[in-house]
Amino acid sequence: MRSIRFATVALATAALALPLMAGSAAADPSAGRTAAPHSHATSDRLRAAAPEGFVVGTAVAGGGHHLEQDYPDPFTYDREYRKVLARQFSSVSAENQMKWDYIHPERDRYDFGQADAIVEFAKRNKQVVRGHTLLWHSQNPAWLEEGDFSRTELRAILREHITTVVGRYAGRIQQWDVANEIFDDQGNLRTQDNIWIRELGPGIVADAFRWAHKADPRAKLFFNDYNVEGLNAKSDAYYTLIQDLLEQGVPVDGFSVQGHLSTRYGFPGDLKDNLDRFDALGLETAVTELDVRMDLPESGEPTEEQQRKQADYYQRTLEACLAVDGCNSFTIWGFTDKYSWVPVFFEGEGFANVMTDEYERKPAFYALRDTLKEAAREDDCKKHGKHHHRHGKG
Ligand code: G3I
Repeated sequence: MRSIRFATVALATAALALPLMAGSAAADPSAGRTAAPHSHATSDRLRAAAPEGFVVGTAVAGGGHHLEQDYPDPFTYDREYRKVLARQFSSVSAENQMKWDYIHPERDRYDFGQADAIVEFAKRNKQVVRGHTLLWHSQNPAWLEEGDFSRTELRAILREHITTVVGRYAGRIQQWDVANEIFDDQGNLRTQDNIWIRELGPGIVADAFRWAHKADPRAKLFFNDYNVEGLNAKSDAYYTLIQDLLEQGVPVDGFSVQGHLSTRYGFPGDLKDNLDRFDALGLETAVTELDVRMDLPESGEPTEEQQRKQADYYQRTLEACLAVDGCNSFTIWGFTDKYSWVPVFFEGEGFANVMTDEYERKPAFYALRDTLKEAAREDDCKKHGKHHHRHGKG
């Protein structure tokens, strides 16, 4: 297994000793006085800073909580947003646009408009795509959740959905979150709120992977969840289940941790250990939805200390992924606070992303960029020293 040693302390100090939020150029020591907030300089782009074969992604804002906000669909209408999306990232994930609710609004009708637009945008901008998601307990349409279907019908509905959606984007999706959040925090399968497991039994999960693989043999098929960053009952449950599925020959390719973190809690220091054990099973691993929220003070402005802590959490999550051989996909759940899901779900919390509402870069942005650059430099050294290097696809 590849193991990269990072100059963690030096990097952390460099990234965190920045003047905070005093305009992006001022906050970036390497940008110089002339750098604009959205400089074209390659050195300013996360995607360009990354080591070869390592993709840096973001969720593409749209649907979900955005529908309740007083702005138009961000991905469709916010030009600034689209610019940053194209420049900074080499991977995109549909935040809501590929969920059942959106893509399959009626039993006999699919709506691929939004999902197609994302996949086309990605192609134009040489980005890979993460598909999200096929089997989940949430954001399912009423016709499905409230329908009165027999077991045979339900199975056919899921099979048809997976075959249709995965088939439509075959060859264009790098990783699919086939099964999302199937365990609760105690490590019990969601046998009540997950309609598929409740009605069809746990075996349906294996079938979902088989059907997805058949529809697109090239896509890497993942289990994805939150609160599984560290070693705990929930990640243990995945570890046991996946071992079992692999023994049966079920086409499972990856295990991903979402990474919805909060500075209210300690950083999951055992993240790398956890990724390592899935890596040792021969799986790919990924970070798929990282954001780091915090309790906002009365003023609404986070303190310097809070911003430093946030940058540290982002950096340590990235470092853990970079240090694991098969972790080649690192995605943040949106990049600007303007469109974050956090304040909608958690009252009094926010500031979770790497850019402000105005797209100003936070210390967390620079922490990611510098960490990527350092990893790229180390990979280069290794390559030239004829050591093995990152072998993921780009
Ligand atoms: O379905 C209800 C609808 O009945 C109601 O009329 C409407 C008005 O309040 O709300 C609808 O629910 C919304 C839901 O999306 C479905 O569209 C919620 O309010 C809204 O908050 C929700 O947001 C999305 C959320 O997933 C749903 O779980 C967010 O935009 C999206 O960022 C978030 O993303 C998830 C990942 O998919 C999985 N991991 C966790 C991550 C963060 O929650």
